[in-house]
Amino acid sequence: MVDLTPDTVTDAVLAQMADTPDARLREIMTAAVKHLHAFAREVQLTPQEWLMGIAFLTEVGQTCTPSRQETILLSDTLGLSALVNLMHDSTHAHDATDSSLLGPFYRDSSPKLALGDSISSEPDTMPVVFLGQVRDQDGHGIAHASIEVWQTDAHGSYDMQIHGESRMDHRARFEADASGHFHFRTVRPLAYYIPLDGPVGRMVKAQNRHGCRPAHIHFLITAPGHRELVTALYLGDDSYIDSDVVFGVSEALVITPQPDSTTPFPELPAIRYDFTLAQDAGMAASRVGADPSKLMQTAH
Ligand code: BEZ
Ligand code: FE
Repeated sequence: MVDLTPDTVTDAVLAQMADTPDARLREIMTAAVKHLHAFAREVQLTPQEWLMGIAFLTEVGQTCTPSRQETILLSDTLGLSALVNLMHDSTHAHDATDSSLLGPFYRDSSPKLALGDSISSEPDTMPVVFLGQVRDQDGHGIAHASIEVWQTDAHGSYDMQIHGESRMDHRARFEADASGHFHFRTVRPLAYYIPLDGPVGRMVKAQNRHGCRPAHIHFLITAPGHRELVTALYLGDDSYIDSDVVFGVSEALVITPQPDSTTPFPELPAIRYDFTLAQDAGMAASRVGADPSKLMQTAH
């Protein structure tokens, strides 16, 4: 037996894991152990500090419910979700629409509405019309693509924050027409604080961060033979546009409602945005996130 030292304990762990049969699991865990140990060495982590970290992670898990995903929030506020998305986007063969965060407020059973319907139960508060086309990488419309959309109400709250799981609002699923076009009515979303009443909120406040996301509309767009697109469009005049607490904004995803008398709702400001899906290269789902109620059932 050789006594372990701060410099040799990492290799001892790596040696024990070296026979992991799954090559990808071995690669991921080897890197995770190396970097975690390097982090502890760099900051000279004390037992008391690591116990605080363990208590924090425990509370993050305990804060999760079928309608709240604190672990995703942690990943988001640490920029890890954004990093994983950016790396995923860079595997596109050609330009496709940038992805953005799924966030903790996605639900996979939004009501299906007809083109032109409003997704809001308060359709007269700052109404806008959204018009778009779903295209392939050659610029051709994708017939009958599925478009899921969700956002805050005009006061900055998601339905789940007000009604829990009991009522859906400001979310819907649409089917594009035969040329890939779709349109719907909604209301201007508002910037909002991410949930700050849990352990992640305490972390964000301790770091002197404002904790806000700029106003945005989420989309999850799918069509057979294409990579699913999880993205969001951000209102350009929002004061948090350059300091999103979860790092989801990119220049190409910024929108501005404009007067437009050529739409089916000429009295409403219009947002026009066309989405390009990458070809399906056999990739698994491209989301960091899930409907929180489903994630609790599929943790292993
Ligand atoms: C959201 O956009 O819904 C969101 C994303 C990440 C963290 C919190 C909220
Ligand atoms: Fe959001």
